[in-house]
Amino acid sequence: MELAPHPVIPRKKPVLVCILDGWGENPVKDGFNACHVAKTPTMDSLAAKGSAYYRSVLAHGPAVGLPTDQDMGNSEVGHNALGAGKIIAQGASLVDIALEKKSIFQDAGWQYVKPAFEANTLHIITLLSSGGVHSRYDQLKGLMQGAVADGCKMLRLHVLTDGRDVPDGTCHEYMSTLVKDLATLEGCDAKVASGGGRMKVTMDRYEADWGMVERGWKAHVLGEAPNKFKDPIEALKKLKEGGDSDQYLEPFVIVDEEGKAVGTVEDDDAVVIANFRADRVVEISKAFEYPDFKDFDRVRFPKVKFAGLMQYDGDLKLPANYLVPPPLIERTSGEVLAANGLKTFACSETQKFGHVTFFWNGNRSGYFNENLETYVEIPSDNVPFNQAPLMKAREITAAGKEALRSGKYDVVRVNYANPDMVGHTGDLQATIAACEECDACVKELLDLVDELGGMYLVTADHGNADDMVQRNKKNEPLTGEDGAPLPLTSHTLAPVPVAIGGPALPATVKFRDDLPKAGLANVTATYINLMGYEAPAEMEPSLIAAN
Ligand code: 3PG
Ligand code: CO
Repeated sequence: MELAPHPVIPRKKPVLVCILDGWGENPVKDGFNACHVAKTPTMDSLAAKGSAYYRSVLAHGPAVGLPTDQDMGNSEVGHNALGAGKIIAQGASLVDIALEKKSIFQDAGWQYVKPAFEANTLHIITLLSSGGVHSRYDQLKGLMQGAVADGCKMLRLHVLTDGRDVPDGTCHEYMSTLVKDLATLEGCDAKVASGGGRMKVTMDRYEADWGMVERGWKAHVLGEAPNKFKDPIEALKKLKEGGDSDQYLEPFVIVDEEGKAVGTVEDDDAVVIANFRADRVVEISKAFEYPDFKDFDRVRFPKVKFAGLMQYDGDLKLPANYLVPPPLIERTSGEVLAANGLKTFACSETQKFGHVTFFWNGNRSGYFNENLETYVEIPSDNVPFNQAPLMKAREITAAGKEALRSGKYDVVRVNYANPDMVGHTGDLQATIAACEECDACVKELLDLVDELGGMYLVTADHGNADDMVQRNKKNEPLTGEDGAPLPLTSHTLAPVPVAIGGPALPATVKFRDDLPKAGLANVTATYINLMGYEAPAEMEPSLIAAN
């Protein structure tokens, strides 16, 4: 893993790598493109330097290891690619293959849960949508059919409504489809048992709010929630009447005629999480897996056979049982830099902290070498982010500047959460404010890089803020019955910008013009070059060359 010195670029500290989470370079530049509408003099000035120093790279579909060109990018695959420099077949693709070949039903994880099918209940906990970011409905259906084929007599679904990777309001369609499909599972008593909105129940990440997971545990496991319904379709109808978006629906439990929950989790049951993506199911996995668990009072800890669709944390080996082996992401930039004694600083706020560390390092929660890596988490507020679109960008900037000034680090990596987290609310004005805030923060960092004589690379992990409206096939904005634009809460298929520069960048070094289809994985070799080294040959080629 020894890195050779770059023939042209000197090893000159510091190098800044700055990620604008959810900032796409969308070809559609109308009033719904928050990155475009926002006043962004810094990003504009980077773009104005022209194609030698500013370009875009692909951040969606096969370029980041996703199954098809219709798959929007996301932070897991984006940061995996940025950190590893490789295109890795991702969870979504691996599960597709395992279901297609039916190997999933032969492998160890399934064999572990299967003995529960005959006399006990199989519980499936999942994000209910086809967003393709955390889960996909067709995969859920494949799992349910496989379970019934393998003798499952009692199936209970615990579903988190989406509205974040798919449009708000679609939870009804997914629930109706699920209810219909459950009715077709012959010889199996299959029912929806509990649920709630994904941003209210179960799917917290990076320990931002354990209360979400506790609400999920109570609903899924104990059968307790303030809202009880006999019918899941009725449940969503009633909960939506309160005006909440799909993401934020309150927890609910389905009960029988006597008011008893239809699907509590009991000893000897099997519990499977049908999400392939890690970040938002690590906490609930810990609650099921760890006998000694202190993050909330579980009240009851049933002894179940628990499996994830994948193993979610490679360092913690969590969970121990899983249906599909996760992508093997090895020799990431973090590991290579540490092996060469180079020092890294990484910082974001809670909502994106694991993106710039855990995902960046190939879904590992630890350090490669704690003496060489400093990770700083700025606590995020637990608020709807359109109400606080500036989020913690200033604090991240301050931490990044301090790290740059300290002279201690070979590379300083910061991730700004705003364009993505505010973009997911569907609030255009707030997202414009989010983009403007990021732009101002980037300026501060770049000014300091100038002062310190360093180099920078500014990029993003996927699109989001660059389109805030649902569109028809002709790209025309769609409106609702009231004539108002229908907000787009999800990511986009847009490529993302990459900008390089700084006083230490030799004048002969420019972006190559022979990599038009480059993607996020090509960015890794690029920043390793900026640090003064040749990148390992197994990484995707660098975007820059000296001529
Ligand atoms: C989420 O988990 O918030 C969304 O599904 C995806 O957003 P991210 O990929 O930007 O984290
Ligand atoms: Co996002």
